[in-house]
Amino acid sequence: MENQVFVMNHPLIQHKLTHLRNKTTGSKEFRELVSEIAMLECYEATRDLPLEDTQIETPMGMATTQVIAGRKLAFVPILRAGLGMVDGVLALVPAAKVGHIGLYRDHETLQPVEYYSKLPSDIKERDVIVLDPMLATGGSAIDAISIIKRSCPKSIKFMCIIAAPEGIKAFTEVHPDVHVYCAAVDEKLNEVGYIVPGLGDAGDRIFGTL
Ligand code: URA
Repeated sequence: MENQVFVMNHPLIQHKLTHLRNKTTGSKEFRELVSEIAMLECYEATRDLPLEDTQIETPMGMATTQVIAGRKLAFVPILRAGLGMVDGVLALVPAAKVGHIGLYRDHETLQPVEYYSKLPSDIKERDVIVLDPMLATGGSAIDAISIIKRSCPKSIKFMCIIAAPEGIKAFTEVHPDVHVYCAAVDEKLNEVGYIVPGLGDAGDRIFGTL
């Protein structure tokens, strides 16, 4: 499991995460922080993009330098809180496409029900990064990634901001092939599935629906 979960302890991320957790932080600042943290995490999550050599001419002469080797990315936020991370990652990778997945778990059948799903038509040619700020029980992330896997993208990563140990355990058992990027692994889930100490309800804080 250790090899699969990357906790990004960069000082800028940790500093912003402290403000994000603070209950006095209002929606405007909360949204900005989610976006900034997502951008910084994306920097790390794209570290393995392959490079290739190219020739350019600088004002001083010819140079052999590197560019990203034609890899195509897609970001897939899980509705609704994942939307808060989209601006930040697109700031780094503006050419990426954005798919969306909305789902809930049917209380009787316990099966995931997709109420919305729109993925890029060329997803098979893309590396996908799934976005959701909170990996709590892991249910939505597990189900969303199972749905995306049916479309056979080249690779899938999962990016959140705070993860619970329970969520990581469940997620890594079902999707051992998907790397998880987060800014913190918190203590536990409480009895109603919120992460402690966490930051409360990410969607409500992003959209001001508290
Ligand atoms: N979703 C949230 O927004 N917060 C939690 O703590 C858990 C799930």
